[in-house]
Amino acid sequence: MNEKVLPRSMAPYSLALLPGDGTGREVMEEVKRILSTFHDSGAISLETTEIPCGGQHYLDTGEEWPAGSFEYCRDESDAIVVGAVGWPGATLPNGDIAGGQALLGLRSALDLYANVRPVKLYKGVKHKVHGSFIDVWDNELVDIVMVRENTEGLYHALLRRSGMAARGEERDEPLVIDGFPGLEGEVGWDIRPISRKGSERVIRFSFELAKRRESRLGSVQKVTCVDKSNVTRGCRLFRDVFREVSSEYQGIVTNEAFIDAFTMWLVRSPEDLDVVVLPNMFGDIATDLASVLQGGMGMAASANIGDEHMLFEPVHGSSPKYAGQNKVNPIAAISSVQLMFDTLGLKNDDQEAMLCAEVIERAISEHMSSGGPVTYDLGGKASTTEVGEAIASRCAAILTELGS
Ligand code: IPM
Ligand code: MN
Repeated sequence: MNEKVLPRSMAPYSLALLPGDGTGREVMEEVKRILSTFHDSGAISLETTEIPCGGQHYLDTGEEWPAGSFEYCRDESDAIVVGAVGWPGATLPNGDIAGGQALLGLRSALDLYANVRPVKLYKGVKHKVHGSFIDVWDNELVDIVMVRENTEGLYHALLRRSGMAARGEERDEPLVIDGFPGLEGEVGWDIRPISRKGSERVIRFSFELAKRRESRLGSVQKVTCVDKSNVTRGCRLFRDVFREVSSEYQGIVTNEAFIDAFTMWLVRSPEDLDVVVLPNMFGDIATDLASVLQGGMGMAASANIGDEHMLFEPVHGSSPKYAGQNKVNPIAAISSVQLMFDTLGLKNDDQEAMLCAEVIERAISEHMSSGGPVTYDLGGKASTTEVGEAIASRCAAILTELGS
């Protein structure tokens, strides 16, 4: 019998799609359109399974997602794509965000320690720092990748509870302190543990990413460590580990910044930044701010990456205000699919997946630079569907041109 292993190109990638709440459901329709475009063209083979989840699902059914969803994501899928999770009024009895299992639970239980958030300004995208749209920035100016630690820090307790729930365990409240010296009365408090292991793996990830960017872009890369090590012990450890790891990467330039000053530099001189690594909550906040430099949240994509698993999501939330209006920008979600193909390609040494990533990147870039239809956030009037269709047909045209 022929013992040859089935080539990667013949085994379909199995994708779990979690639309979640509000506009997450609408952008997921455009994700599906893009995925079908690639699958139908023969460029790559994909199988998808859609899983309902989120706060709205919780309000409708009393559960955050159907039983077995976590196991499906863990055992049966090569990659997970999430639309958005979170809905006003959807809260668990313990006060945690309802639907959190599908995002925080997966980040925790699948150990997705690197939250990769590229901040790239495409040519033709207008940005709005001053309220009106301006087109003064060269697209070379903003090309940053923020890497947010994704499994500990100020999110630790919530991640732990959501991860336990995803695994079917009882959520615990491990630490109880009666009273805080120096404080009186009721106290709301959160722990912020930062470990050597957690810091080392995300920092190493950032340096490896910088190395790949160096060879892709042909320019020297800088890794900036952002923390508040003048105040917190966790950040002190984070920065110490940064220094240790950086000594292994001689060619790469390093920089260190405190988060307060960093927010100013980010807005003032984004051209000075390449790869940026930050503890969890700082990364959460700084990436929303940074999205303004790329045209807003409608353009901000993200990848949650661990050693075994990967999950992709637009950085934006479920935007209840715009839900059901076919109005929001689907490009953040489509770019997240681009990150998915890129990550699958890298992990499996799969040229087909890499090519799909390049095609999406080129399609978005050409769509924007040629004045393709855009949604309200970018100053246009197009609907979610119109933008999604335009980019999907551009992908199809590029694939035909490439002859796949
Ligand atoms: C994000 C979101 C989540 C987070 C929310 C929905 C819990 O803001 O992905 O950045 O805080 O991590
Ligand atoms: Mn956030």
